[in-house]
Amino acid sequence: MRIAIITGASSGMGKEFVRQTLEKGEQYDELWLIARRKQRLAVWEKRYRKQKFRLLPLDLLKEQDMQTLYSTLKTADPRIGLLVHCAGFGVMGSISEIPLEEQTEMVDINCRSLVELTKILLPYMESGARMIYLASAAAFLPQPGFAVYAASKAFTLSFVRALRRELAPRRIQVTAVCPGAVRTEFFNRAARHKSLPAYKRLVMADPQKVVSKAIRDAEAGKELSVYGPAMQAFFLAAKLLPHRLILRFL
Ligand SMILES: NC(=O)c1ccc[n+]([C@@H]2O[C@H](COP(=O)([O-])OP(=O)(O)OC[C@H]3O[C@@H](n4cnc5c(N)ncnc54)[C@H](OP(=O)(O)O)[C@@H]3O)[C@@H](O)[C@H]2O)c1
Repeated sequence: MRIAIITGASSGMGKEFVRQTLEKGEQYDELWLIARRKQRLAVWEKRYRKQKFRLLPLDLLKEQDMQTLYSTLKTADPRIGLLVHCAGFGVMGSISEIPLEEQTEMVDINCRSLVELTKILLPYMESGARMIYLASAAAFLPQPGFAVYAASKAFTLSFVRALRRELAPRRIQVTAVCPGAVRTEFFNRAARHKSLPAYKRLVMADPQKVVSKAIRDAEAGKELSVYGPAMQAFFLAAKLLPHRLILRFL
């Protein structure tokens, strides 16, 4: 059985990855969709009756739920042709103002569960498969006021680049998606302690376009997918200029 797995399939970019994967008509025996909100996952079955889905309402932070995923894989023994890992969240605010539980939860979902999920899925990835991970443009530079999130996405980016090299002999393509601000539910939680800076509001991207570029970049075997001229310029600046200078300017 050949499958695609998409995490964060209940909202934002994960939802968009599901839609665009289905619209492209890629052939998978089953689409495995992961997120905590079951009702949101159930919508896909009603919308695309010809596609077979496996809805996995799992909390990637719960040991028991990871165990469920592990045993589901063991029983089904699938070949995974596509993984898209979108589950994650961020919270803006200074380190001293964000409650500790929220900071550690960010690290857990953006870093620990990324490693755990990858490790569990790797034995099932087929040769020629694509693995797409949502990092962020926040990975390019430390961000005072978004410090833990930016650091967790720097972890994601570093992990993904190393994984890509490790998996090259298996002909598995690994891509990190690094958008700037994207118009999704992300900011409902992100802006709870501190409101979104005006410049981010101005450059906020459309999830449809970000995902469409990510899919094209992954198909082209690119390591990074950076949407839009503003974020591409930011990526270059963060590569070329001393970070303390950019931080002073920002
Ligand atoms: N929006 C942006 O500006 C932006 C920019 C750059 C990068 N990103 C990254 O892109 C990814 C997707 O973000 P988005 O903008 O699409 O946000 P979103 O609309 O809030 O979606 C986040 C998804 O993650 C799932 N999720 C969160 N915690 C989970 C958990 N413990 N277990 C299982 N699923 C969990 C949520 O599903 P349930 O709540 O149903 O579990 C939801 O489907 C994230 O990694 C984010 O950091 C976002």
